Amino acid sequence: MGIGDLHLLGWLTNRDTYDVRGKTVLITGAGQGIGWELAKVLHARGASIALADIDESSARTAAESLGVATMAIGVDVTDREAMARTVTRVVERFGRLDVVVANAGVVPKPATLRVMDARDFDRVIGINLTGVFNTVHPALDHIIQAKGHVVVVSSAAAFAPGMGGSPYMISKVAVEQLGRALRIELAAVGASAGVAYFGVVETAMTHDTLDDDELGRRLGAMLPWPLNVRITGRAAAETIADGIARRAPRTIAPVGWEPYSLLRGVVNVVLDGRLARDARVHALIRAVEERIRPNLHSASDITR
Ligand SMILES: NC(=O)c1ccc[n+]([C@@H]2O[C@H](COP(=O)([O-])OP(=O)(O)OC[C@H]3O[C@@H](n4cnc5c(N)ncnc54)[C@H](O)[C@@H]3O)[C@@H](O)[C@H]2O)c1
Repeated sequence: MGIGDLHLLGWLTNRDTYDVRGKTVLITGAGQGIGWELAKVLHARGASIALADIDESSARTAAESLGVATMAIGVDVTDREAMARTVTRVVERFGRLDVVVANAGVVPKPATLRVMDARDFDRVIGINLTGVFNTVHPALDHIIQAKGHVVVVSSAAAFAPGMGGSPYMISKVAVEQLGRALRIELAAVGASAGVAYFGVVETAMTHDTLDDDELGRRLGAMLPWPLNVRITGRAAAETIADGIARRAPRTIAPVGWEPYSLLRGVVNVVLDGRLARDARVHALIRAVEERIRPNLHSASDITR
């Protein structure tokens, strides 16, 4: 057993078991990345999978490569009526809906609150938060009928500092609260829900944000060990799948984020103070702002 197997929160939480064999699972954002890896893992464990993605062709290619007991749906999670129709289509096709994984998500363009395009704020909240609501809400009657499970994909961003990308952090902490509320509400009627948190996962999202962008690389370089440890999309998917199998209230991967998650109240008081005083962070923030509004920082703007 390696350090990666020591899932403290998983160990502390309940031991219910839930077998997805013969069940129907709806996954949003299933055309690539974590959602696609999860579709493969759950299909291999015997579930029928509805793969929903705004990129219909990627959802279709993914579903076709899985083969039987799959369906592909091209849908934008921000379209509330279309998401309700998606749930109806899944139930018509498979006769039931047992598990929903609200996974679709996007990142904003790097920006401070000062220089950000307000439309980017709305876009990220619309997909990452309202999109999760739009996914889960029409499914709940079916989930409860099946005594099933809901997973909402949050992030370690729910408790990490948000500078330079705050719409993402704001959306993910809101998703965390959505999942916590759902957990308790569903427990009253025989179903369950959990929140999935990830640190850094090797997907297109990470490559676009941290690897292919010079400022992203500078931000990534500030992450200390073990928070800079990366996991594959497959490993992230297995964490969600194993969480479903034990109706976990939360899953966190990689494991290095668990102590931070548990101690966040204390850690963040100290961390926010340090980051607000850190010259490297000041320089990075000014670089992010200058990229959007060149020459924003005249000498008079930087007072300390
Ligand atoms: N990659 C990471 O390091 C990381 C870390 C923590 C949490 N997460 C979360 O995991 C989830 C999956 O991320 P990923 O890394 O696989 O990203 P990704 O960009 O590889 O895949 C996201 C998928 O969501 C789809 N999508 C985007 N907008 C959509 C919309 N409006 N409607 C329907 N589908 C839409 C995309 O087409 C894509 O297929 C996201 O919620 C993300 O915030 C990722």
